[in-house]
Amino acid sequence: MEKRDELYAGKAKSVYTTDDADKLVIVFRNDTSAFDGKKKEALDRKGAVNNQFNAAIMEKLQAAGIPTHFEKLLSNNECVVKKLDMIPLECVVRNIAAGSIVRRLGVEEGKELNPPTFELFLKDDALGDPMINEYHVRSFGWAEPEHLEKMKELTFKVNDVLKQLFLDANMLLVDYKLEFGLFHGEVVLGDEFSPDGCRLWDKDTREKMDKDRFRQGLGNVVEAYEEVGHRLGITFQYD
Ligand code: C5P
Repeated sequence: MEKRDELYAGKAKSVYTTDDADKLVIVFRNDTSAFDGKKKEALDRKGAVNNQFNAAIMEKLQAAGIPTHFEKLLSNNECVVKKLDMIPLECVVRNIAAGSIVRRLGVEEGKELNPPTFELFLKDDALGDPMINEYHVRSFGWAEPEHLEKMKELTFKVNDVLKQLFLDANMLLVDYKLEFGLFHGEVVLGDEFSPDGCRLWDKDTREKMDKDRFRQGLGNVVEAYEEVGHRLGITFQYD
């Protein structure tokens, strides 16, 4: 596998082409951003931690029958993935109210949501990723109806697998964001699953162990991500 040209640099990851037209390399950088890129910092070890954390989660999901783009780790902060045709939507599931839903609906942070709720956002930096509904997806053709159905089904299946996984390690999976793409016409989970894109609280103390530590300036951001990994039995390797 030969890594070639940079295809795209996002806020925390860079994507490279390879000598295989169906494969890409993702580089997890230490860069961390919040509030549409208004708050930015490079955090030591974060790229390696998120890459290895994501690999462990993607392997769990794959084993549970959820198709993912993950192929293999390439180094401490790089992995090989299938090249997907990305669908420009963010799928969010919330088990507990936190973050934007608290501000939007004036509900209390920490309220358990039964059933868990599902939200869609349009991936558009310039517009600040606005919340949309399923009719918008259909009217504007952002995804085929059957692909959207599959994305919802897989997003909830991820919830079943990961809620239990974190609970067994004494953590609450509060919410998370997933992105999907098409690989030879099949809906496949893309992007990443790491504490950058979900909320995790300690089950007993409700201490935040995710990117809210960065957003809210609570400190020990990467240390918290490492603690989440250690509780799941992940041993991180660093350069
Ligand atoms: O900000 P909000 O409460 O809507 O975020 C819901 C979940 O989705 C959080 O876990 C957050 O980290 C994640 N998210 C993300 N990337 C975005 C928006 C939200 O990872 N662009």
